[in-house]
Amino acid sequence: MPIYHQLGRVPRKRHVALRRDDGGLYYEELVGNQGFAGPSSLLYHLRLPTAVKAVRSIRGLAWVAEPERVARHRHFRTSALSTGPSAVLDRVPLLFNSDVALSIARPRKEDAFFYRNGQGDEVVFVVEGEGCLESSFGELDYRPGDYVVVPRGIVHRWRLGKGPFRFLVIESGGYVRTPKRYRNEHGQLTEMAPFSERDMRRPERLAPHDETGDFAVVIKSGNRLVETTLDHHPLDVVGWDGYYYPWAISIHDFEPRVGRVHLPPPVHQMFEGDGFVICSFVPRPFDFEPDSIPAPYSHTNVMSDEVLFYANSEFMSRKGIELGSLTLHPDGLPHGPQPGKTEESIGKPGTAELAVMVDSFRPLLVSREAVGIEDPGYYLSWLEASN
Ligand SMILES: [Fe+2]
Repeated sequence: MPIYHQLGRVPRKRHVALRRDDGGLYYEELVGNQGFAGPSSLLYHLRLPTAVKAVRSIRGLAWVAEPERVARHRHFRTSALSTGPSAVLDRVPLLFNSDVALSIARPRKEDAFFYRNGQGDEVVFVVEGEGCLESSFGELDYRPGDYVVVPRGIVHRWRLGKGPFRFLVIESGGYVRTPKRYRNEHGQLTEMAPFSERDMRRPERLAPHDETGDFAVVIKSGNRLVETTLDHHPLDVVGWDGYYYPWAISIHDFEPRVGRVHLPPPVHQMFEGDGFVICSFVPRPFDFEPDSIPAPYSHTNVMSDEVLFYANSEFMSRKGIELGSLTLHPDGLPHGPQPGKTEESIGKPGTAELAVMVDSFRPLLVSREAVGIEDPGYYLSWLEASN
């Protein structure tokens, strides 16, 4: 849950006139979820945000799953994916259900159009690349290791600075927020939380574009892409305030928890959505009991599909993974360290691992694109003989 923020000019009270130098009005817009009851912001535009000249359908987004879901552990080498140039239109879907969807984007060219996801919040984990996300709320810089949270409905564009670029996109059916147990009854992150409001980066550098002409905004809604043409530049906001805006937090600002003996994955939690959680595994010293086993024990987590995206090639309990690997350990099956990894972890001072975990409480479907980059023997890698 972000904190209150204000940029640019806003009137002394909401819903009162804010006038330009020539006496004309700025146009107020509320952007928020759950009707008028959820988190929201009030924006002040140079022109009516509703002024649309044309609407056309681009295409449907029919994400196709593999024909049969056979429960076994899976490993996908996402570095082998070739994607198109756009940060938003050329995402390759990997795993999905109605709560959460994971895809990969490797943009090479800035979009000429703007984008609004009307059906999901997005958490974009920046694996590689730096630049800024421009939106109606101002510019938000990003760099490797950032989670960039873009709540639904926000018009934005990914500006590409220094590449190459690789994004893990986590799209959420529900509102993405910080875990409730990290916040006190007043909404503030407590001293027990592994990050604080100071780590949350908010938009800055608000510069309204005073331009008329044809400007395309591509909207994702109902699993379809639609292009609307506005008669003015969509980023024409002179000021805004509220709780609803894009924000970023770095995986490197997550303060890891370490115990005398092994602590379970929920200590690594960073975000929650509806039906899933996101955790950050970061470099840290290992447990400090001399006989402790830092690697996890085998575990059967029913009612949960576990996904790990590896942002480097080290993970304390896993063999054979590389930067960009994505593993899926489905509901109902035991998983844990591969042979040798448990013994190997004992007495080690720490780990340099960097990984994003998405635990979905409902089963995930595997896309046909993911099947094409699968390491087919992964499910056999716990056999002693294969190691
Ligand atoms: Fe696990």
